[in-house]
Amino acid sequence: MTLIRASITGIGGYVPEKILTNKDLEAMVDTSDEWIVTRTGIRQRHILENGKGASFMALKAIERLMEMHPTNPAEIDAIICCTTTPDYVFPATANLIGTAIGANNAFGFDLQAACSGFLYGLVVGAQMIESGRYKKVLLVGTDKMSAIVDYKDRSTCIIFGDGAGAVFLEPDTSGNGFIDAYLRSDGKGAPFLHMKAGGSLRPASFATVANREHFIYQEGSTVFKHAVTKMAEAVEIVMKNNHLSAEDIAFLVPHQANKRIIDATAERAGLPPEKVMLNIQRYGNTTNATLPLCLWDYRHALKKGDNLILAAFGGGFTWGAAYLKWAISL
Ligand code: UT7
Repeated sequence: MTLIRASITGIGGYVPEKILTNKDLEAMVDTSDEWIVTRTGIRQRHILENGKGASFMALKAIERLMEMHPTNPAEIDAIICCTTTPDYVFPATANLIGTAIGANNAFGFDLQAACSGFLYGLVVGAQMIESGRYKKVLLVGTDKMSAIVDYKDRSTCIIFGDGAGAVFLEPDTSGNGFIDAYLRSDGKGAPFLHMKAGGSLRPASFATVANREHFIYQEGSTVFKHAVTKMAEAVEIVMKNNHLSAEDIAFLVPHQANKRIIDATAERAGLPPEKVMLNIQRYGNTTNATLPLCLWDYRHALKKGDNLILAAFGGGFTWGAAYLKWAISL
């Protein structure tokens, strides 16, 4: 029997035009460009205007995906929208996207795993393709983090930005495509990175708004310690399980939360900087969009058959790594 794998057959990325620089932030909170660059590697982030939601950026990314890989939307079987900032609590943003693009034969759902969402979505979408039941899955990562960032909190407002990315997953019998993953989650991490109100436990009220509870709450150094350990460990496990050495890997595609976390992960895997995708300096942490935006920015550097390791760590805690063989040359 021929082995069916799920390949990424097209990619699109989008960030909004408006840029928020470190200099701009210096005028908003007690911080400095020097502190932000040294501690995080971030120089600027893109911000979506008011009145537009995560689906707007997703649709822009899909537009670019469709330019690269023209597709009849009626052929899309499923839409997985990985987001922590959906347009609405319900309905799912995936449904809004499906209707907007005319994916009339698809079903869709949102996937919430904070910064690891796209990685989880890749694994879920790949299993759908591998089952043989679905032929075209649209996988989207989109986040308007500026909607939940407190621009009075210097410890979080410097980190996050807005953006989106989208890929198609399709069957591949050439040996390329998604091969393996190691995913984990642990609710003990919840207190260190979460949004206090707005869910069913603590619905919106005058008090929750007055107390600024509808914004990201993060205990940065605790999250940092876990991210460094767990992301590196996941990469190591996936490499070991697939008998991969640093020489075998074309690129590490790491979640872009902090350059120091990325450097530590690469160092532990024995990967030199030129094998590590990096765009945090331009976008900050775009949560579910970091991985597809890396693939989008480096698309011309990628060759068919390249071994890629994707890795992420996020709120929850959630984390993991995935191994795939890139299937397209541009
Ligand atoms: O993607 C989801 C997962 N999230 C992450 O992976 C983020 C992980 N965490 C981080 O990236 C880092 O912890 C941060 C960038 C958030 C913070 O960097 P840090 O080196 O861990 O700093 P810290 O929180 O230990 O704070 C050190 C000092 C504190 O001052 P004191 O108490 O030493 O006087 C902070 O108040 O830096 C201060 N500080 C700032 N100073 C200038 C915190 N934020 C800022 C700021 N500008 N923006």
